[in-house]
Amino acid sequence: MFSVVVLISGSGSNLRALLEAATSSDYPARIVAVGADRECAGLTHAEDFGIPTFVVAPAAFTSRDEWGSALVSAIEPWQPDLVVCAGFMRIVPALAVSALFPRLINMHPALLPLYPGAHAVRDALADGANVTGATIHVVDEGVDTGPVIRAREVAVHQDDSESSLHERIKVEERQLIVETVADIARERIDLEEISRR
Ligand code: GAR
Repeated sequence: MFSVVVLISGSGSNLRALLEAATSSDYPARIVAVGADRECAGLTHAEDFGIPTFVVAPAAFTSRDEWGSALVSAIEPWQPDLVVCAGFMRIVPALAVSALFPRLINMHPALLPLYPGAHAVRDALADGANVTGATIHVVDEGVDTGPVIRAREVAVHQDDSESSLHERIKVEERQLIVETVADIARERIDLEEISRR
């Protein structure tokens, strides 16, 4: 069975969508472990589903390379076919990117290349955008710069706050990540080919 490690930093609603999807016998992937860069609420979703967790906190290491190496060491025993950053709010160190590329993907709450970085929803609102969205991309060494796999638009409403818009984006993201992981597992998406573009 196609196996997935999910990395998170926060509430983990996208992780939960994947965990729920993976309980279906029709779903072609299984979540084998969940990792985080800090103790966070999302880890409880993994516990609810009996999935093992690990925390590799950057503060415990003296350099980004050491942290990256520890992250890879925590992921590798699971021999995942895919690693999904689902609200993992760290730039993955180059060493970990090269160990996992192209089977490391990220979700981002904007239509990349617009609004990269940690405040994508706030930046879209500040910019007066009428439309923003969600993007899933292969992780490379840049900040939200890797090849795009899929994206979905979300309209910005005039009375949107950062949290109301982010919640509507997350509704789309949860569907998009569940569909995208399934399509990668079913070989309907070829990450090697996307990464050569
Ligand atoms: C999602 O909107 C995801 O796109 C975003 O964090 C949220 C996590 O939500 N990621 C980034 O902004 C990465 N730059 P969740 O914890 O409820 O799944």
